Amino acid sequence: MPPDDPPIITTPDGSRTALSARYGEAYGSRHGAATQARHVFLEGTGTDTHPAPRVLEIGFGLGVNFRATLANTAARGAPLEYVAWEFDPAPVEILREVADQEAHPIWPALLERWAPDAEAESIQLDVQDVRLTIHFEDVLTATLPRAWATALYLDGFSPTRNPEVWTPDFVARLALALAPGGMLATYSAAGHVRRALQAAGLRVERRPGAPGKRECLRAVRFA
Ligand SMILES: C[S@@+](CC[C@H](N)C(=O)[O-])C[C@H]1O[C@@H](n2cnc3c(N)ncnc32)[C@H](O)[C@@H]1O
Repeated sequence: MPPDDPPIITTPDGSRTALSARYGEAYGSRHGAATQARHVFLEGTGTDTHPAPRVLEIGFGLGVNFRATLANTAARGAPLEYVAWEFDPAPVEILREVADQEAHPIWPALLERWAPDAEAESIQLDVQDVRLTIHFEDVLTATLPRAWATALYLDGFSPTRNPEVWTPDFVARLALALAPGGMLATYSAAGHVRRALQAAGLRVERRPGAPGKRECLRAVRFA
């Protein structure tokens, strides 16, 4: 690995994450990156039992949430549509190193196409029952799908480090991307995040947090 690449961190559940130099924060939980992905995002949005989930993620990072979702849908034979935004793609070596045991063929296909230094604006892959689209642009100025997502993973670094993706205005735009019955999940339980979700018309529920966090949030769109 080149010396400037972010250091890999092995977390207590055996999964790996890395430190982002830009934000001075780990991409996933140091207390268990895969555990957080499953508890907060996959189960928090009911994606683990949805017959045909359509997931919108901000941001794709190292793909830990994607792989947790993929492992679940592939094991139960459910199709998966996954659309993510990522404006600062990590080097492919980091993605490869963080995910050393990936069985589903879409992962090597993604690594093959992953070219953060090229001009690619997006990648779309269709492999077996999985469609993965990654937009390499700032989600703040992107056109989001409307009433589409059964699940929204709001995972854009913490509100203190990256406040732009947690503002009431942006959260209101995210709410419109949820299909009726769709659920947004985030590891943050901060009061201002809760209020922004409520102001966007979502019904907010507190849940027990993943290891290292007391609580996390789920927010449901009804109409
Ligand atoms: C906490 S990490 C995400 C970890 C990821 N979900 C995973 O499973 O590995 C946050 C990611 O959001 C991206 N991000 C932050 N703000 C963004 C924005 N405005 N537009 C697009 N991506 C953004 C960062 O570059 C970073 O990769």
